[in-house]
Amino acid sequence: MFDFRALRVPIVQAPMAGGPSTPELAAAVSNAGALGFLAAGYRSAADLDEQIHRARLLTGEAFGVNLFVPQPSAATEEALAAYVAALAPRAARYGVETGSPHPDDDAWAEKLDVLLALRPAVASFTFGSPDAETIGRLADADVLAVVTVTSLAEAQIALANGAPVLVVQGPLAGGHRGTFDPAAPPPRDDLDTLFGRIRHYTDAPLVVAGGLTTPASVAHVLARGAVAAQAGTAFLLAREAGTHPVQRAALVDPQFTETAVTHAFSGRPARGLANEFMRRHDPVAPLGYPEVNQLTTPLRAAATAAGDPHGTNVWAGAGFRSIRSGSAAEIVRHLAKEIV
Ligand SMILES: Cc1cc2nc3c(=O)[nH]c(=O)nc-3n(C[C@H](O)[C@H](O)[C@H](O)COP(=O)(O)O)c2cc1C
Repeated sequence: MFDFRALRVPIVQAPMAGGPSTPELAAAVSNAGALGFLAAGYRSAADLDEQIHRARLLTGEAFGVNLFVPQPSAATEEALAAYVAALAPRAARYGVETGSPHPDDDAWAEKLDVLLALRPAVASFTFGSPDAETIGRLADADVLAVVTVTSLAEAQIALANGAPVLVVQGPLAGGHRGTFDPAAPPPRDDLDTLFGRIRHYTDAPLVVAGGLTTPASVAHVLARGAVAAQAGTAFLLAREAGTHPVQRAALVDPQFTETAVTHAFSGRPARGLANEFMRRHDPVAPLGYPEVNQLTTPLRAAATAAGDPHGTNVWAGAGFRSIRSGSAAEIVRHLAKEIV
């Protein structure tokens, strides 16, 4: 079974669904001695299967695969209809229709079958905890299960289900907050406090994530006892990442000075560059994943095609201003510079 303590470089490249995570990125990170990740979210099971095979052609090292845990949606028909009306002028501007909401569990069972068949070293989960039976099946297949948590209560649930390792995700993290309950109030604890609370409760190895974009921030969480530092935003400009050119450009565009958390794009809280879509729609957007995500998909695609970073999500953590471009190996080496 994979052991984080055996990593040559105790850094994890966070899974980043929606484009940035590629087999090339995961393999390059793992080849550099850290742990690369594929992101299964939004992909079909067949696609995931292919990505794992491709990564294996590129590296003999361990890498991880991340899945979204299906959750009941908070969406109501009335709230979705009101949001469609609010989005109508934007849709008209792009000459597209809003998407049609429909139930979608992100092919959970099929993707689990892919994991059990292909046995990547690590499987991480976000938006919830797999049940004890699933974690047990993964362990039997020699796959280390890792569950993302954003509070002590979530850590307690994951540990009770048998999760051997947790990712403690702090509030400055880019992309979706891993919270089990999208309607939960925003976290009060900063990353250090959250880590301290969970560390006090369990001896399980803790991977720490959220806002780690500098060598000093990586060294800090490791010095506090994290088994590895997980960074996502820091890899968005990596050569091997699949980050869309519109998003790459926005990440270095001086007009974007801050990030904010919004559920306006997907119906779940997520952190990204504060842009016009967020400012306009966050106050009226309902919670409801995946329906809100489905509603906004054609609008975001049209904005991206038009090269407009104000009409789509540019997920990024609060530390985005200190990220660098270069090869994934260079980024790993940079982030590891102050580890003692
Ligand atoms: C573009 C992007 C996509 C993400 N997609 C996922 C994902 O598919 N699964 C997941 O567990 N976390 C995802 N995350 C969150 C990361 O796992 C991690 O918590 C976060 O990147 C850490 O904060 P940082 O971005 O400040 O390093 C994503 C983050 C970003 C920036």
